[in-house]
Amino acid sequence: MHKLIIKGGKPLRGEVGISGAKNAALPIMAASVLALGKNTIKRIPELSDVKTMGRLLSSMGIKFAYDNGDVTINSSTINNFEAPYELVKTMRASVLVLGPLMARFGRAKVSLPGGCAIGTRPINLHLMGLKKMGADIELKTGYVIAKATRLRGASIYFDIPTVTGTENLMMAGTLAKGTTTLKNAAMEPEVTDLANCLISMGAKIKGAGESIIEIEGVDELNPINNYEIIPDRIEAGTFMAIAAITGGDLILKGCRTEHLDVITLKLKDAGLVFEDAKSGIRVIGGEKPTATNIKTMPYPGFPTDMQAQFMALMAVAEGTSIIQETIFENRFMHVAELRRLGADISIEGRTATVKGRSGLMGADVMTTDLRASASLVAAALCAEGESAIHNIYHLDRGYEKMDEKLRMIGADVERVND
Ligand code: EPU
Repeated sequence: MHKLIIKGGKPLRGEVGISGAKNAALPIMAASVLALGKNTIKRIPELSDVKTMGRLLSSMGIKFAYDNGDVTINSSTINNFEAPYELVKTMRASVLVLGPLMARFGRAKVSLPGGCAIGTRPINLHLMGLKKMGADIELKTGYVIAKATRLRGASIYFDIPTVTGTENLMMAGTLAKGTTTLKNAAMEPEVTDLANCLISMGAKIKGAGESIIEIEGVDELNPINNYEIIPDRIEAGTFMAIAAITGGDLILKGCRTEHLDVITLKLKDAGLVFEDAKSGIRVIGGEKPTATNIKTMPYPGFPTDMQAQFMALMAVAEGTSIIQETIFENRFMHVAELRRLGADISIEGRTATVKGRSGLMGADVMTTDLRASASLVAAALCAEGESAIHNIYHLDRGYEKMDEKLRMIGADVERVND
């Protein structure tokens, strides 16, 4: 187990390269199950979640190799159609193999993910969709056991837009007989990236990135050929928040500004200045951020995955901000830890009231989930004195070489055994 020791209070300056998006990498790796032969994917970040997906594919008899961002996955040798509890409990996104397995083989046994730190996170909508497509689904000993001869197209409405649910059913629809329509689908850029990858494999998909997606099933798909995944908008947003909270000046290289629209708007309201730079976007933090309210919403709304980092920024803002979390019922776990750093935050239900302070003080803090860790890192970078961020395992799940990137822009960060 590692912890990060951060000595805060320095404005961070320099260039940061943005990595490939975790939440695009995971479904696209799962999509390799859909085609016979060698799939190649580029710009896959080196993350523990990517390793877990690799272990899952390997446990299914699939050949998986990772080399500096290039992934090769050969699913011709698949001989097991199960996502076991041991892997699903470490990464819920393991459930993304369900749609591809059902589409190509008509059989899957996937451990039912339990609740997680941020909420109960059921997968009822994934299962409802598969049932509509003709799958026979049984829940037994904690597993989803699904079977079908060949899935058939169906019209599916999501009561709540679900990112991995939309991805699972979109992948299921690619090889189904007939047309599948997903209504009230998730519109996140990672869903569109998966759709673009599937289209490059020969899938017929219209409307990805909109709320109605139409998938016309085909008989087979070609392997993925050097598909390059999109940059991580949440990593970019996190570094923007870090520029703001440290009063720094960063150039973020390789991010897609169109995916960051609402995050940049809110950070502009909070006083951050944005400029076009030759190799990316320049982000300049001011003296003190201005209190700004946010309410998390499905894309294109403000992402829940940026809520914790934004809250860290608001902890040192001028004024009081109201932060509402509407996606997950328990995504305020970072609040108690931010308070240990001196933040003044109260919670009522799904609303946090953050009274900005003039500064934060270093302390020992514990991470509870991925974005909570990023929030604590940002807060520690601005806090006076030394902080220890324990249980950094969560950060490594979703941020590629975060501590190295921070050191490159002048942060005093050390990774040590805990
Ligand atoms: N929901 C249901 N039933 C379902 C599916 C979802 O009620 O069958 C509910 C959830 O409980 C939640 C809401 O719908 O209240 C939205 O959840 P969604 O299914 O969209 O979340 P997800 O697909 O499990 C992905 C990301 C999360 C991100 C959310 C929301 C991946 C691998 N994970 O999760 O990323 O927070 O969408 O944008 O894409 C992270 O990267 O830190 C992370 C948690």
